[in-house]
Amino acid sequence: MRKVKVPLENQSYEILIGENLIPNFPSFLEGNLSRNFLAIVTDKNVEALHLSNLVKVLSDAGIETKILSINPGESSKSWETLKMTVDWMLNNKIERNDIVVALGGGVVGDLVGFAAAILRRGIRFIQCPTSLLAQVDSSVGGKTGINTTHGKNLVGAFYQPALVVSDISTLKTIKERDFLAGYGEVIKYGLLGDYDFYCWLDANVSKIKERDTQTLIKAVAHSCEMKAEIVIRDEKEHGDRALLNLGHTFCHALEASTGYSERMLHGEGVAIGCILAFELSARMNLSSQEDPVRIKKHFSDMGMMTSIKDISGVLPEPDTLVELMFQDKKVVDGKLNLILAKGIGKAFIATDIDPSSIKSVIKDSLIT
Ligand code: GLY
Repeated sequence: MRKVKVPLENQSYEILIGENLIPNFPSFLEGNLSRNFLAIVTDKNVEALHLSNLVKVLSDAGIETKILSINPGESSKSWETLKMTVDWMLNNKIERNDIVVALGGGVVGDLVGFAAAILRRGIRFIQCPTSLLAQVDSSVGGKTGINTTHGKNLVGAFYQPALVVSDISTLKTIKERDFLAGYGEVIKYGLLGDYDFYCWLDANVSKIKERDTQTLIKAVAHSCEMKAEIVIRDEKEHGDRALLNLGHTFCHALEASTGYSERMLHGEGVAIGCILAFELSARMNLSSQEDPVRIKKHFSDMGMMTSIKDISGVLPEPDTLVELMFQDKKVVDGKLNLILAKGIGKAFIATDIDPSSIKSVIKDSLIT
């Protein structure tokens, strides 16, 4: 098992990454429970796959559980499900010193983290992420929250977990498309800050695709180390944490124009967005012309989408996509800041990007 430490000023915690961690869950709780009780929130898909294993080992260890299973999918990151979750916690008399476990992907983690942040002004929570995307991104770093009709993640809190338990065995059960979407966030770390990690991933395409356990442990652990290092430097995203948004401004525009639907998953949009960010960087002569070609080949070897044209159905005109990008949180005084790169592993925050150069990159990606 690998351990990654996240030593923050107000809340230090560990990320545990390994095989068969759920069957050993009680050993990670030793000395931390105020009573022999855990609340668990999951979703109906994850419930069918992993909940009974977790409940059984806890019960064998004498730990009583209360379970809430929500509907799967992004629509559960809502005021309604938040209210239902908090009411459920209060109805079940979850106390100030109790711990709630978020067992599931990014939706469960974000929702439960936010509910934990506001219940009795903050109770402890453990992230037990079961998707690749949640293991390498959303379970680490304390961003919690819900969506509103005004947009994604607009209501929430920075609220760090007490522990993250990433059981790599759960990755054997996820669908190929979800696995590859999560991989979009893994490769992002190499692209933004670690050329050697990018090369290692590129050299291990077949092992990653066959979900070789040791390769995945290394990939998840290194992604978490990189995220932890950035979060330690800039927990509340006043500066460098924005680097983690490589590809995300393009992705948010694509998500908005595909209605946050199955047409394009978040990680797929991140992957396309990373290619577009490198394409733009190359056209602005910031990075080599070869970089976007290399990255595109890697994604294509992995079997991932590489262009906007790979998204099914009708998409808006380039002008509309550029306008959507200008709705992003990184617009300051009407100027768009984007994460661009001076080469693979050398991302930086670029300011005041010319909309016409973004438009030309988008236009080409709609056809090639
Ligand atoms: N997902 C980006 C971040 O946690 O900052």
